[in-house]
Amino acid sequence: MNRGLRFCSTARCVPERIVTNDEMSRIVETSDEWIRSRTGIGQRHFSRGETAVDLCVGAGRLALERAGAAPDEVAVCVVATCTPDYASPSDACLVQAALGLPEDTPSFDVSAGCTGFLYGLETVRGLLALAEGKKKYALLIGCDQLSRILDMTDRSTCVLFGDGAGAAVVCLEDRLWHAALGSRGTAAPLWLNGPGPETTYIHMDGPAVYRFAVEALPSCVQDLLAKSGLTLDDIDWIVPHQANRRIIETAAKRLHAPLDKFYQNMVRYGNTSAASVPIALDEMAEQGLLARGQKIVTVAFGAGLTWGGALFEW
Ligand SMILES: CC(C)(COP(=O)(O)OP(=O)(O)OC[C@H]1O[C@@H](n2cnc3c(N)ncnc32)[C@H](O)[C@@H]1OP(=O)(O)O)[C@@H](O)C(=O)NCCC(=O)NCCS
Repeated sequence: MNRGLRFCSTARCVPERIVTNDEMSRIVETSDEWIRSRTGIGQRHFSRGETAVDLCVGAGRLALERAGAAPDEVAVCVVATCTPDYASPSDACLVQAALGLPEDTPSFDVSAGCTGFLYGLETVRGLLALAEGKKKYALLIGCDQLSRILDMTDRSTCVLFGDGAGAAVVCLEDRLWHAALGSRGTAAPLWLNGPGPETTYIHMDGPAVYRFAVEALPSCVQDLLAKSGLTLDDIDWIVPHQANRRIIETAAKRLHAPLDKFYQNMVRYGNTSAASVPIALDEMAEQGLLARGQKIVTVAFGAGLTWGGALFEW
């Protein structure tokens, strides 16, 4: 048995404004049919006035309340993001202040693109071990506000992404936990320029990212199964990064896994980058799909090219 993380609570916060595929088709030459059939996305939330920190605070506050975690019981506050409000200070520092976390709470951002939440889980697992139980909880938030950096003249990227934040309060226990993290160490084929004088935009070679994703997702799942000695039959849910339905369908085929083991909600949010896995977990908890003792695999991939996964009991 490892020192693993237990999810004490989850929460999410998305901007109120919903942008449908039909609305996107008034901005670029596209259609609801094209977007749905190529990606599984039906709508996304775009911020109108909310900052990234506002979304983080909304999700973080609710997660702390649901866990019954007092501010002085939080050992570390981490935000996984590639679209922070400022290059510096981190979103996490501003979240720390807004949530009244005391000054001895280390607070910082983790940048690993859409894999950020998975990198964040391993980061807080290590820091909770160093805290030696003096403070019980870690607050981990995945948040991205990609609407700010979308090139609204590029139909091959602007229809894919949405804004949101998902949060989890976790604590360390002796329990099942296996993680796998990696990176190919390359900016191509997915990068955001800036900060600096240039306007920040997301740049992506979609087919190249697709090829990477359909390889990285199944191989990460297989790595976690090998580490744990479990088989796919032992796993109740696979919670993948919500980039594209076709990526998940191809990964399921390659793993010989039934598609209904994979939770999918990109139809409602699009790709929310680092927020996608915690938003999915929160929806699943809300719908009563998660029960204590169930075995979960969560897996993500993104800019870097990074990938990451965790296998654990809910
Ligand atoms: C982006 C993606 C959906 C494109 O699907 P695809 O089937 O590979 O499409 P292609 O890029 O080959 O483009 C096919 C055609 O559709 C067009 N097209 C692209 N976006 C379009 C849109 N929103 N609406 C209509 N047509 C579009 C292209 O211009 C191209 O037209 P052409 O053949 O006349 O040049 C797909 O590559 C993908 O999902 N990649 C992964 C992206 C991703 O998830 N990134 C985030 C990872 S964290």
